[in-house]
Amino acid sequence: MKLVVLGAAAGGGFPQWNCNCNQCRGVRAGQPGLTARTQSSVIVGGPHDWLLVNASPDILTQIQRTPALQPDRALRDSGIAAVLLADGQIDHTTGLFMLRERRSPLPLWCADPVHADLTQGNPILNVLGHFCGVARQPVPLDGTPFEVGLPNLRITALPIAGKPAPFSPRRECPVAGDNLGFTFEHTATGRRLFYAPGLAEITPPVWAAMQAADVVMVDGTFYTDDEMVRLGLSSKLGSQIGHLPQSGPGGMLAHLARLPATTRKLLIHINNTNPILDARSPERAACAAAGVEVSFDGLEIDL
Ligand code: MLT
Ligand code: MN
Ligand code: ZN
Repeated sequence: MKLVVLGAAAGGGFPQWNCNCNQCRGVRAGQPGLTARTQSSVIVGGPHDWLLVNASPDILTQIQRTPALQPDRALRDSGIAAVLLADGQIDHTTGLFMLRERRSPLPLWCADPVHADLTQGNPILNVLGHFCGVARQPVPLDGTPFEVGLPNLRITALPIAGKPAPFSPRRECPVAGDNLGFTFEHTATGRRLFYAPGLAEITPPVWAAMQAADVVMVDGTFYTDDEMVRLGLSSKLGSQIGHLPQSGPGGMLAHLARLPATTRKLLIHINNTNPILDARSPERAACAAAGVEVSFDGLEIDL
């Protein structure tokens, strides 16, 4: 069983269509050390049938780059057997529209609050009802493991701190299930990967899930909390939009440093302003020194 990174960037991608920051300009210009990345999504399972975890606006590009997802068994076919959502954000859900040509309802696993947002604040699922429709399955939030019909794959969801999407009526009052981390377990080997592309806080249950995993792949959105503010791109801190920064005391790198050396550690959902995207930056060197990898599109992990 594998996990393949389809898109390692945060919402907006790298480069972002309207961004002229040094890094977005640099990657457009082919500056050494900078590599473009599409928006946040991974697949788990294989070799023929996969779980798509988050459906990014870049999904068509991602499918074109990933032969394992392309049709080869029937006139209409896809390697995407089911979809699982970590949250209801635009960068994790807009790609659902691109799957509308399916001939049967799309098996879709999401938590109740996300389902509410995707049928009310941003009624994507209602619109899809006019095309293939979805066969929605609720994600258990009490830690009960669940399966999605793929052999050897057992999943546990963990409600984590974060925010619901800006269009949610609950934007300022999050509830359990707005943001999920997932443990993907290969039942034949017992190996586990903890995946949380949006993570505002390392609470004791999150820390327990990280400690129990052989691989952790976590929120790499911002290096510093005020990154967007200092660049003049936003008035909001990373922590105000639900992302724990990597640097500083209590930052993601400090937490990852407390994990055993044998745990593989990766950052994902990386914003285009984050200096770790530059392979020549001191911030990337700090990640490397901490044994932390920066995910890229196409990265494959064996589970
Ligand atoms: C987030 O991760 O905070 C959101 O996806 C931001 C966005 O809407 O692009
Ligand atoms: Mn996002
Ligand atoms: Zn930029």
